[in-house]
Amino acid sequence: MHEHNPASLRIGFIGSGRVAKALAWGLSGSGHSVVAAASRSLGSAQQLAQRIAGCSATADAQDVVDGADLVFITVPDDAIAAVASNLVWREGAAVVHCSAATEVAALAPAARAGAWTGGFHPLQLFADPEVALAGLPGCTIAIEAEGGLLRRLERLAAALGCRNMHLPPGCRARYHVAAHCAGGFVIALLKQAVDLWASFGVGREDTIRALLPLLRGTTASVERSGLAQGLAGTYSRGDIGTVEKHLAELAHAGPDALHLYCELALLSIPLGLERGGYDEKRADAMRALLRQALQA
Ligand SMILES: NC(=O)c1ccc[n+]([C@@H]2O[C@H](COP(=O)([O-])OP(=O)(O)OC[C@H]3O[C@@H](n4cnc5c(N)ncnc54)[C@H](OP(=O)(O)O)[C@@H]3O)[C@@H](O)[C@H]2O)c1
Repeated sequence: MHEHNPASLRIGFIGSGRVAKALAWGLSGSGHSVVAAASRSLGSAQQLAQRIAGCSATADAQDVVDGADLVFITVPDDAIAAVASNLVWREGAAVVHCSAATEVAALAPAARAGAWTGGFHPLQLFADPEVALAGLPGCTIAIEAEGGLLRRLERLAAALGCRNMHLPPGCRARYHVAAHCAGGFVIALLKQAVDLWASFGVGREDTIRALLPLLRGTTASVERSGLAQGLAGTYSRGDIGTVEKHLAELAHAGPDALHLYCELALLSIPLGLERGGYDEKRADAMRALLRQALQA
């Protein structure tokens, strides 16, 4: 892990799905040597390799380990430990996985053989490798590694146009839960909005079309002004009358919708206070209404 010339580090991928393709193409495009790819099916490895000069597709993952200095294990989370334990690792080589929640200890067989092990998690959605590749610049990559591997992975993140953050050992699941708050759970909240509007006849597509500009405005507001100053709406102002109307309405929508609303509202109040939108007395009055609704 001492090379500083990007091209002198031989990189390989085991598992040639969405993340592997985006990373391999991005790294190759930034002057790195992606030399080998394997996958469960040779066809996937070939798809990855065909866009990279000098990259060979192989049916045998051991070829990747033997031919690369740094191996990315980019298989589904549940397969990482099994893949790592079925291969023969050598001292001084390096291997990382790209899973958010899987501990680096899943790579213990490689570490026992004297290889460097780490985590390299790009904090982005990879539904399509082309789209993901275009969206990588500006993203954060969470890196868990030590010594020379840490510095090497930081340089790889920078080469992809990404920021990096360091993850201490043992906190990956917490890190991953937080990522859901800005990712998949936002979609779950949009589904909640779809259900509410469906009750007075608005279709899913129309609801999404109407709410997406609001979602974009919200993220832009946070980007510009931060969490508290970026907050808008009822809980930025402390409109108690509106809170009462919301709660009365949700009492008919079922306990799940009411519960979700109250929990999110209670999380919003400290931000409204920080923003200076109201005082503690008004915050307490709103909290009392919400807690009462939660207990009803
Ligand atoms: N998708 C995301 O948004 C995202 C974001 C950040 C991190 N990640 C992480 O990145 C990793 C890969 O995820 P992904 O979304 O790229 O998954 P994916 O698109 O499903 O790709 C996984 C690849 O691994 C291959 N594979 C499965 N089992 C294998 C095995 N035992 N040996 C060798 N290859 C095997 C698959 O098989 P075939 O050969 O049949 O194609 C496929 O090409 C995961 O750890 C995931 O948590 C994903």
